[in-house]
Amino acid sequence: MKILLIGGGGFIGSRTALRLLAAGHEPVVLDSFEPQIHGSDPAASPTCRELFGAMEVRRGDTRDAAALASALSGVEAVYYFPAGTGTGQSMYQIEKYCDINARGAGVFAEALTAQAGNIRRVVVSSTRAVYGEGAAFCGEHGRVYPKARRLADLEAGRFATFCPVCGQPVQPEASQEEDPFLPLSIYGITKLAQEQIIATTTAALGLPCTVLRYQNVYGPGQSLHNPYTGILGIFTQLVLAGRAINLFEDALPTRDFVHVDDVAEYNLRALSSEAAGPAVFNVGSGVRSTLRDLAEAIGTGLDRPGPTKVSGQFRVGDIRHAAADLRLLTAALGPHDFMPLTRGVKTFTDWVAAEGGSEAANARFDRSLEEMRKAGLLRSAS
Ligand code: UD1
Repeated sequence: MKILLIGGGGFIGSRTALRLLAAGHEPVVLDSFEPQIHGSDPAASPTCRELFGAMEVRRGDTRDAAALASALSGVEAVYYFPAGTGTGQSMYQIEKYCDINARGAGVFAEALTAQAGNIRRVVVSSTRAVYGEGAAFCGEHGRVYPKARRLADLEAGRFATFCPVCGQPVQPEASQEEDPFLPLSIYGITKLAQEQIIATTTAALGLPCTVLRYQNVYGPGQSLHNPYTGILGIFTQLVLAGRAINLFEDALPTRDFVHVDDVAEYNLRALSSEAAGPAVFNVGSGVRSTLRDLAEAIGTGLDRPGPTKVSGQFRVGDIRHAAADLRLLTAALGPHDFMPLTRGVKTFTDWVAAEGGSEAANARFDRSLEEMRKAGLLRSAS
């Protein structure tokens, strides 16, 4: 199939494009190649340089209706990846996140209404951030959905989530696709708008659509240039520079870290899914790891256990726990042997070591923390 990957120059998109090519498809990438992610020369970017020469790559703004209309011509399937992805950054670059994530989806959806003819499936990359804190178990009230943590609690070092009914501490549970939407960051809100705009439009057009809600995706190809791009890159570069890893809160927030190869595998399977209407699946590893677990895996991967600092700092808009319930995914798209964290992190640290850590990246990260601090969005428990 001729397949358009909108935002296909990014971390997940470029891995997916290469897999599609290897599977005998004809991928076409449309991407703006943002300097924040790729630096000034995309053909040299460790994230996407393999695409050039291997497939058709179009450079254009994914919110440009004319660029989209031209790229959509004659394609049989579309992957939609464009997004601002930084939870912290979204809390002060609000207009930018609304524009990329929500308005961008609007431009794409409108292009589809004019040109859906040949298209057999749309696959949208969404996020577990639509669930906010997600589900939890209360001894008295069963499955509940904790609200946003209060600033006063966080500042007092109370990082846990509580039952919204009785206020008692709760145990985190895996998110299910039917859980309520409770996004807590501008990132989560705008990504929810994005998936809903596309799912609603494709449903109205009778066009099969698969929404994949990713957990924390990591692996080789993750931008080392972007200080807002996730903790794997940040932590690894700090260790390589001999600096301490700054673990926020009490080092015990949890995330479901899923390797990019596992995500690319389900991206490909989503293409041949039989589901007719909008189908929504979580994509994660199903395993919850703490920030400390991650720091240890990075130390093991680099064979150089780095010092860590449990700073008590926290980002406004962050959630405490995340993990995916994968039952719907594996029932619909088949089971899979997910990469365990230590092995997966080793593929990443080997790749970073080969690319070479950079002091400039650490300086950009320090600046990003300063930006957040100035905006009142990076705070400390006293
Ligand atoms: C990430 C993704 C988002 C995705 C979501 C799904 C990024 C930038 N964002 O958001 O696109 O949809 O997962 O779950 O990859 N932390 C530290 N020290 C630091 C920086 C962060 O301890 O120096 C903590 C944060 O407080 C947070 C955790 O690390 O608890 C993860 O942060 P981050 O990598 O930015 O990702 P998410 O916000 O989970």
